Amino acid sequence: MSPASSLFGTAHAWLYILSQRAVGAHLARYACLEALAPRAGERIVDVGCGPAYYLGRLPAVDYHGFDTDQRHIAWARARFSGHASFYAEPFGEPHAARLAPVGGVLLLGLLHHLDDEQAEALLALLARALAPAGRVVTLDTPFFDGQSAVARSLARHDRGRYVRRPEQYRDLADRSFGRREDRIVGDTRRMPASHFMMVLREPRRSGPGLTR
Ligand SMILES: C[S@@+](CC[C@H](N)C(=O)[O-])C[C@H]1O[C@@H](n2cnc3c(N)ncnc32)[C@H](O)[C@@H]1O
Repeated sequence: MSPASSLFGTAHAWLYILSQRAVGAHLARYACLEALAPRAGERIVDVGCGPAYYLGRLPAVDYHGFDTDQRHIAWARARFSGHASFYAEPFGEPHAARLAPVGGVLLLGLLHHLDDEQAEALLALLARALAPAGRVVTLDTPFFDGQSAVARSLARHDRGRYVRRPEQYRDLADRSFGRREDRIVGDTRRMPASHFMMVLREPRRSGPGLTR
C-alpha cells in the first residue's frame, strides 16, 4: 500500500469510529460484547468487523475478524497485530470448516447490509460452524413503532440498504437458530441511534458437513 493510500485508509477508519461515537453506537457494541461474555481462549468469529475498535474490551480470545473493506482490515491489523487474525474477505465455507467449532460469533452492524438471501446463507453457515453451546450476537439498525424521530432519522440515513423491522430480523434468525433473545438498544439521550440486538443459540444444522 502506498503512503497516500495508507493515510487515506487510516482516515477512513477513524472517521468511521468517530461517527459511531457521535451517535452512541460504540456503547451498543459494548452491550453486545457483554451479551457474548467470551471466555479467555475461546474462538470468536467477527463477520463485518470493520476496524474492530472494540477488540481491546475482549479478554484474550482466539479472535478472527472478516471484512470486505480492505481499509478497515489494514487499520485493525496495524492496531491489533499479534492479538488477532484479520481477513480482507467475506466469511465463507472454507473459513467455517477451518475454524469450527466456533464458540462465539459477532455480527455487529452487518445484517442490514445484506439482502435476505445473503443474510440467510450466512446465518445457516454460522449455525453449522458453531459449537453446540456457542452463541451469535447480532446488532442492526431497525425501524420500529414508537421509535423516536431522531433514531428514525438516523435509521433512514443508514448506509445499509436492508434496514428491517425487528420481526424481519427475527424471521431470518429463527430459520437457523432454535433459541433467541432480543431487545432494542439505544434510542436514548446518551445513545441516540437505535439498534436491534439478538442473541442466538441452539444452532439448527442443515445441509452437508463443512468442507474446506
Ligand atoms: C456498520 S459496519 C460494522 C463494523 C463493526 N462490526 C462495528 O460494529 O463497528 C459494517 C461492516 O460490514 C462490512 N461488510 C459488508 N458486507 C460484508 C460481507 N459480505 N462480508 C464481510 N464484511 C462485510 C463493511 O465493509 C463494514 O465494515
